Amino acid sequence: MKTLIVKTKTKNYPIFIGKNILKQFGNYQNKYLKNSNKLLIISTKKIPKKYFNTLIKNIKKKNIYRCIFPDGEKIKENSYLIKITDILSKNNFNRNDCIIALGGGVVGDLSGYAASIYKRGIKFVQVPTTLLSQVDSAVGGKTAINNRFGKNIIGTFYQPNFVLIDTDTLNTLPEREMSAGFAEILKYSLILDKRFFNWLKINGIMILKNRNRDNNIISIAIFKSCMLKSKIVKKDEFENNYRAILNFGHTFAHAIETATNYSRKIIHGEAVLIGMMLASRLSNHLGYLKNSDLKEIKNMYEKLKLNFKYKKFVSLKNMNKIFKIMINDKKSFGKKTKIILLKKIGKSLIKETTLKKSFIPLIEKDIKNGNY
Ligand code: NAD
Ligand code: GLY
Repeated sequence: MKTLIVKTKTKNYPIFIGKNILKQFGNYQNKYLKNSNKLLIISTKKIPKKYFNTLIKNIKKKNIYRCIFPDGEKIKENSYLIKITDILSKNNFNRNDCIIALGGGVVGDLSGYAASIYKRGIKFVQVPTTLLSQVDSAVGGKTAINNRFGKNIIGTFYQPNFVLIDTDTLNTLPEREMSAGFAEILKYSLILDKRFFNWLKINGIMILKNRNRDNNIISIAIFKSCMLKSKIVKKDEFENNYRAILNFGHTFAHAIETATNYSRKIIHGEAVLIGMMLASRLSNHLGYLKNSDLKEIKNMYEKLKLNFKYKKFVSLKNMNKIFKIMINDKKSFGKKTKIILLKKIGKSLIKETTLKKSFIPLIEKDIKNGNY
């Protein structure tokens, strides 16, 4: 088992990473949730019941409440938030009591948001069960729900009290979700760490296929990702500037997800894979990224069979809608927007520009050429 401490201005907290550690929940509870007499576990119907049962079995005697919601992005919405806060109020949860998010990024984002606003903040624990949530969404304190204008438009920065990552939960995760999580792992390597990128070249396939379970490849990738992310969060918890690099590939990704109504046609990580390739190509087009680096990134996608084509989601018919959504992005200020580019593999830069001078012409050209 490995432990990583995330240090922020608002809270320092541990991330525990290991095999079969869900059953140790009681130990962490004793240390980090001493005064929480009531715990609300939030999860969804599709998350294998055995994780829920293990968690319940290993919680030290407390009053336990549960919310088991339908599955999918649609629950990151106001009506589900109200369901949670109603349960908390009806059962008189106080600020020492706690919400536990058991599931992927959807459950984590919604639960974290509820925890941050109920009585202006109660205790919060993340038990992420998808690769994406283990390497990204459960770490760093971003919480959110969506509205009909866009993704993650309503949210807070609210750090958890601890994060418990049991890598065995990945054994039931579909391959498609593994590659979605891999997208964020690849992101860290592209924006921050060339050596990690080289390591992923060799080990990427093991992660995607969740092979080599005993040899810790996945644990290493998760630990490294959480470490890289926590360094950025430490420097810029509230995304005043630097943290924006974590959005590499995300402007286009969010637009595709919003335009497809967050359906299963494309999931978050798949959209990020597409967005990162587009952002890499743009970096090259604008003269920041060398041809050889772009080629190396393309080789990685091809070797690992990661999709970067976006024809299915963006066409002449809906491109204006996509551009409108991109312009409404959280990184936009008036006509200006912050875009994240690569200088080289392992080094990113933030550029203030307009979408009209950056992404839009490239996408228009792609659509005209039909080869994208
Ligand atoms: P998700 O939460 O929808 O989970 C994906 C699917 O996997 C779901 O169907 C879920 O039921 C299933 N599942 C979860 N754990 C499982 C397991 N162990 N075995 C089998 N099935 C399992 O999706 P996600 O990719 O985890 O998260 C995506 C969400 O995270 C998006 O809403 C995105 O906006 C958000 N996000 C937030 C941050 C952040 O910093 N807060 C960062 C990245 C993404
Ligand atoms: N996932 C982006 C961030 O946490 O800042």
